[in-house]
Amino acid sequence: MSGQYHTPVLPEASVDGLNIDPSGVYVDLTFGGGGHSRSILERLGSKGRLIAFDQDADAWENALGDKRFTLVKHNFRYLENFIDYLGISSIDGVLADLGVSSHHFDAPERGFSFRFDGPLDMRMSPGIKQTAADVLNNYPADRLFTVFKMYGEIAKPGRLVSSVLRFREASPFENTLQLKEVAEQSAPPER
Ligand SMILES: C[S@@+](CC[C@H](N)C(=O)[O-])C[C@H]1O[C@@H](n2cnc3c(N)ncnc32)[C@H](O)[C@@H]1O
Repeated sequence: MSGQYHTPVLPEASVDGLNIDPSGVYVDLTFGGGGHSRSILERLGSKGRLIAFDQDADAWENALGDKRFTLVKHNFRYLENFIDYLGISSIDGVLADLGVSSHHFDAPERGFSFRFDGPLDMRMSPGIKQTAADVLNNYPADRLFTVFKMYGEIAKPGRLVSSVLRFREASPFENTLQLKEVAEQSAPPER
């Protein structure tokens, strides 16, 4: 899967920035297709170690068969716990390529795409129960406002919140393109 999974951003420049010590311990917080991890491993010697995190089961299929490499299949918020658990006392560098991978946008069934219709899922981790459709169909207006403003970075989300409430009064959100249509209707024309 790693071939088309994701093309890493500035792979060489970002790993150059880690200024790698070949015997050091490094963390890739967002493993994805493993592009950055592979580049880190190329610069590590036999004593070096790389711990990678990804909470998405699709990314786990890209795990690298290298004895210097450990993939932690959890949210990177547990970094400190896992570093302790793995018996590591200090880290030499951390790389975080935050967000979603292109795989998420390319796979309609994951519910992130606004090019292809699919279930409005948007869960990254199999452990999460609530889908994006659940949020849109059940959150009260003030919580939707906060979600759009804080995580969607929409400066004035009032119109979008009203459109979501209007839409769901008629029928529940189920698919990605329904949300796209509602968002387009409430966005200023130039956006
Ligand atoms: C932009 S991609 C990383 C691509 C990667 N650098 C590569 O070279 O292929 C971001 C990855 O981080 C994962 N991710 C996002 N938030 C996460 C979190 N809080 N904990 C663990 N993984 C996360 C996503 O599942 C996705 O695979």
